[in-house]
Amino acid sequence: MRNIVLYKSKYGNTFQYATWIAEELDWEIRDFSKFKKAEIKNYNTIIFGSGVYVGKMNKIKKVLEWFKEKPIIIFACGGNNNVEKDINDIKINNFSENQLAFHTFFYLPGGVDFSKVKGIIKIMINVFIKIVENKKNKKEYEEAILKSYYHPTNYVDKKHIQAIVSYAKKI
Ligand SMILES: Cc1cc2nc3c(=O)[nH]c(=O)nc-3n(C[C@H](O)[C@H](O)[C@H](O)COP(=O)(O)O)c2cc1C
Repeated sequence: MRNIVLYKSKYGNTFQYATWIAEELDWEIRDFSKFKKAEIKNYNTIIFGSGVYVGKMNKIKKVLEWFKEKPIIIFACGGNNNVEKDINDIKINNFSENQLAFHTFFYLPGGVDFSKVKGIIKIMINVFIKIVENKKNKKEYEEAILKSYYHPTNYVDKKHIQAIVSYAKKI
């Protein structure tokens, strides 16, 4: 039976993790956008991973719709370095309790680099940063955004795939 790692990645962090996981497990790997719903039946075990943008995992709505009857392994690749509260927020923002119990969720730390952002989003971020900078009493999360704007972070490391790889090997 075939197994596959599907990913959706804007700036490469999720892609890097998906590549390492597929290599380690010796599974197929494919961009989720090139995968068809009709192919689901051809696969035994499926891992899906994507980046988190403004609280939401990329393509998660479609994934949860497609995999309503087939439990899969899902990993989110966000900006924080395994901060429990942030990981919990990602779970709450993207899944119902039933969906979390049905699928298996992992978090892999990506990092934030706003310099890679292009187009309209970049303009919006720059406007937002200027507004936050001019605020007298900044909230904790606003300080954190300002910090990551000026100091890009990258927590991508092969060591983080161990938990998801050992789980997949046991299925
Ligand atoms: C515009 C923007 C919004 C983001 N929003 C979040 C967020 O709400 N939560 C989070 O954990 N990370 C957030 N991030 C960080 C990304 O999830 C992180 O960089 C991730 O590793 C990207 O994965 P990808 O390159 O595979 O798409 C954001 C990044 C950008 C550029």
